[in-house]
Amino acid sequence: MAESTIPIQWPDGRCNQAKPGEPWLEAAMRCRQKIPTACRTGSCGACEIEVNGVVVRACISTVPAVGSRGLQVRRVEDPHW
Ligand code: FES
Repeated sequence: MAESTIPIQWPDGRCNQAKPGEPWLEAAMRCRQKIPTACRTGSCGACEIEVNGVVVRACISTVPAVGSRGLQVRRVEDPHW
């Protein structure tokens, strides 16, 4: 059985697919999206993104399983972006 993928729409309007459990930073890199990072341990907040209205720290988070509905990523208003 084929593994399902999740459609992702990025802030610049580009879209790609990711597998549930894929690290956010890898999914972003495949779609040429730059998410700023600093600590990469989840403590500084430089990598925060908003996923379907929920703020997550991309360096320690993975793409959730949401069926085929898809995920919309927004930039968190922050001077790092
Ligand atoms: S890079 Fe610091 S919290 Fe993600």
